[in-house]
Formats: sequence, structure tokens, C-alpha cells
Amino acid sequence: MEKQFKTIQESEVLLSELMLPSNSNFRGNVHGGYVLSLMDKIAFACASKHSKQYCVTASVDTVDFMNPIGIGELLTMKASINYVGKSSMVVGIRVESENIRTGEKKHCNSSYFTMVAKDENGNSAIVPGLILITENEKRRFIKCAHRLEAKKAKTKQFSKTDFDSAKYTEEFKQYNVQILA
Ligand SMILES: CC(C)(COP(=O)(O)OP(=O)(O)OC[C@H]1O[C@@H](n2cnc3c(N)ncnc32)[C@H](O)[C@@H]1OP(=O)(O)O)[C@@H](O)C(=O)NCCC(=O)NCCS
Repeated sequence: MEKQFKTIQESEVLLSELMLPSNSNFRGNVHGGYVLSLMDKIAFACASKHSKQYCVTASVDTVDFMNPIGIGELLTMKASINYVGKSSMVVGIRVESENIRTGEKKHCNSSYFTMVAKDENGNSAIVPGLILITENEKRRFIKCAHRLEAKKAKTKQFSKTDFDSAKYTEEFKQYNVQILA
């Protein structure tokens, strides 16, 4: 029987890949879409390890590309489960690049992928809970729980049925828009 609670360490995944000319964009750096695709793969691997099920990507939160990644640099991604719900898992991913010759490392981005476990019939599957050990693991879990609550509240605030643009008449004035009707 699958364990009911698992440590974060049990499903951590590390991926390193040398960035090749075939991964480049028109400026000669690594194409952002390529990095996103690697992030999706590592999120899948991490969530599948935790849940022992195949998973799908439900959402991706905040991918800020802080530094360009050069061709010939070694890209390293570290993924770990930050939060689990019933069938969903939030995988935190940190991406770093390293200059092979100098050893200089850059933090390129951090992001959160929400993955949902699916059983063999395609239904959402219950995932094991988390055993939180370190202060950092506890901090990440609570931070994530708060972020999800804030996201829910925002979705409700701007739902098509509840939204009333008249409430934002003053606020619109600070933006680069004209309101015509
Ligand atoms: C994501 C998906 C599985 C949710 O399906 P659903 O019928 O809404 O499932 P449920 O209502 O049972 O929700 C399942 C879980 O997903 C979470 N979830 C649903 N939509 C979500 C979203 N947009 N962002 C984050 N979490 C989401 C729910 O909160 C729930 O979490 P919990 O079980 O931990 O409480 C479904 O929309 C889907 O299959 N989407 C396509 C996924 C895919 O193909 N990805 C690859 C794109 S190329």
C-alpha cells in the first residue's frame, strides 16, 4: 500500500543539461520556451514520484526570467514538492546556470507548477500528505497555502459574474487606457 505521508526529500529531482546551439533564440541565448519545457518535465517527474501516478500540469505561477542563459552554460534545475492538497501538488523549481570555465553561477528563475495526479481511468487521484521537517519546508508550505488562498480570492473578485467596472473608474485613470463606454 502507498504511504500516506512522505518526506519532501523522497521526491526531490535534480536535472542538469548543457545548453546547445540548437536551444538558442535569435539573440544567441537560450530560448525561454525551451527552459519552460524542461521545467514542465522536472515538475512532472517530481509530482509523479511523490504520488506514484501520472500527473498533468494544472497551472504555472510566476516565471520571471531574471538572467539570460548562455549557450554552452550548464543548466541545473532542482524540483521539490512545496505543498500538497487532495490530488494536487505544488512543485517549486529553482533554475540556475553555470559558466563551465569560470564556475560562476546565476539564479535564472524560480517557479511553481501545480500538478494534479490522475489514476488509470483519468480521474483525479488522492496523493500522499507531506512530512515537513525543516524550517524551510514549513515556510514554503505555508507560503504556498497563503498564495493559493490569495489566488482563489482574486479569481472570485474578478469573476465575470461579480465584476463591476464602475468600481474601478478612478483606478483606470492611472493606466495607459481610454474607457469608451
Ligand atoms: C487540471 C485539471 C486536472 C483539473 O480538473 P478538475 O476537473 O477541475 O479537477 P478537480 O476539480 O477534481 O480538481 C483537482 C485538483 O486540481 C486543482 N486545480 C484545478 N484547476 C486548477 C488550476 N487551474 N490551477 C491549480 N490547481 C487546479 C483543484 O484545486 C484540485 O486540487 P485538490 O484535489 O488538491 O483539492 C483539468 O482541468 C485538466 O485536466 N486540465 C488539463 C491538464 C493538461 O492537459 N495539462 C497539460 C496542458 S498541455
